[in-house]
Amino acid sequence: MLKPNRHYQDLTENYLFSEIARRVAAFKEANPAARVISMGIGDVTLPLCPAVTDAMGKAVAEMGDPATFQGYPPAVGYDFLKSAIARYYAERGIPVTERDVFVSDGAKSDTGNITDLFDNDNVVLIPDPVYPVYLDSNVMLGRTVRLIDATEENGYLPLPDERTEGDIIYLCSPNNPTGAVYTREGLKAWVDFALKNGSVILFDAAYEAFVRDPALPRSIYEIEGARACAIEFCSFSKTAGFTGTRCGYTIVPAELEAGGMNLSRMWLRRQSTKYNGTAYIVQRGAAAVFSPEGHAQTRANLRYYLDNARLIMAFLDKKGIPYTGGECSPYIWLKCPDGCTSWEFFDRLLNTAAVVGTPGSGFGRNGEGRFRLTSFGSREGTLEALDRLDALL
Ligand code: MLT
Repeated sequence: MLKPNRHYQDLTENYLFSEIARRVAAFKEANPAARVISMGIGDVTLPLCPAVTDAMGKAVAEMGDPATFQGYPPAVGYDFLKSAIARYYAERGIPVTERDVFVSDGAKSDTGNITDLFDNDNVVLIPDPVYPVYLDSNVMLGRTVRLIDATEENGYLPLPDERTEGDIIYLCSPNNPTGAVYTREGLKAWVDFALKNGSVILFDAAYEAFVRDPALPRSIYEIEGARACAIEFCSFSKTAGFTGTRCGYTIVPAELEAGGMNLSRMWLRRQSTKYNGTAYIVQRGAAAVFSPEGHAQTRANLRYYLDNARLIMAFLDKKGIPYTGGECSPYIWLKCPDGCTSWEFFDRLLNTAAVVGTPGSGFGRNGEGRFRLTSFGSREGTLEALDRLDALL
């Protein structure tokens, strides 16, 4: 008799962003004339920049020419993209080489799939609140998960103490959803903890490009000792608008070991078995992000989103609504006014202003009473949403 994976029963009914999409679809059906503005899922709105689309156009032509046609891509990325990524680190003086780079279809898949490398008999430590993929992908496997509180009191940046327990530690900085960014000292505390306890840190750096303050770290490998205890996940989604194009990369240091096994070789084995590589055309586009033109154009797009964030922050300041984030992050994490729960506030915004945000409780129990807005909208959409909220709050 077939036995399903019963751990799926321990998940919430829907993945957070699917649940939001479901509620928005129901609202639209009931209110066909409403012009809904989404500040919910962190999906970009600016198109791919010209340097990227030019490179992709050339790659399309190559694919149509027998002399340059490409078949299966290498499972973990073409050398031209891996070397561009390694250079991106080298330029910042960060010790990452081409051998450490694994190209994929995005950080979401990799943060979920990395669970394959670890035995179920590990304690998984996850900050609360945080990007729901970390928790859900471990719940699916029936793993023991401990939550570490990220609250207003610790600036949403928990640190290890003598009671902290964790073999696998998830960290996300700049944080999704709170926008909080670890300092070097904060990350060093985690690296020291991991080295002392033989743990691995899974560091989600999907939002690193939003860090404008040079004093703040953008990679865990800026911290001494991190190569011996950390894996880093990065994405072109938010940095270069690849949410619909799909490309990301994971850094597994070549020498990283756990329990006598080499994690880099294990990840290579896992990816070459279960993943057939990111499309050539997409990888050519991703490599163009690192060209001088691609860099300038993608950074201009990030500035546009950060300007949206500034508008949202100014609005919240005017209304006296407390928030974090927005400075080095596309996310603004606010306190729901009038003592509303997160979903009550979601419904209020949707039903009275046709504005969609993300309920904080969807990121963990510490997110209750909080709400996330994204700055990935268009300028017009952001301004109009703020106008509508002005009338409401
Ligand atoms: C978010 O809104 O948190 C992200 O866009 C979701 C994702 O990256 O998968």
